[in-house]
Amino acid sequence: SLSRRFYHPKVIDHYQNPRNVGTMDKNLPNVGTGLVGAPACGDVMRLQIKVNDSTGVIEDVKFKTFGCGSAIASSSFATELVKGMTLEEASQIKNTTIAKELSLPPVKLHCSMLAEDAIKSAIKDYRSKRNGRKPTLGPEA
Ligand code: FES
Ligand code: FES
Repeated sequence: SLSRRFYHPKVIDHYQNPRNVGTMDKNLPNVGTGLVGAPACGDVMRLQIKVNDSTGVIEDVKFKTFGCGSAIASSSFATELVKGMTLEEASQIKNTTIAKELSLPPVKLHCSMLAEDAIKSAIKDYRSKRNGRKPTLGPEA
């Protein structure tokens, strides 16, 4: 349970009104899906990005978290952060940035790590799909 005594109002807001909750079709060629778990507690998060193939800009983000309030708040905040970023920018997001912004207590740092890992994993999935679509034949072939 989430205690108002210990949590920053911003966490409570993202927890009570999480942004960008949902799923996208993971088979779409421009959707990258990240599914990660937190070894510390066993909680799981899925985060998906929809990328503009020509600009590399993340145009949409959706997440689902089977985890604690801090994990929900972290991923909700992360989706807002990531939307509109290039893949390059998004891959540099650190969990400490998320934790600081939400004023997470140290014991909840791993919850924000889940969000960072999920973003990285979604980017990796998108990139490997995209590489798979690249024509393998050179101009001389
Ligand atoms: Fe209980 Fe994460 S340890 S929800
Ligand atoms: Fe596990 Fe928060 S306690 S993600």
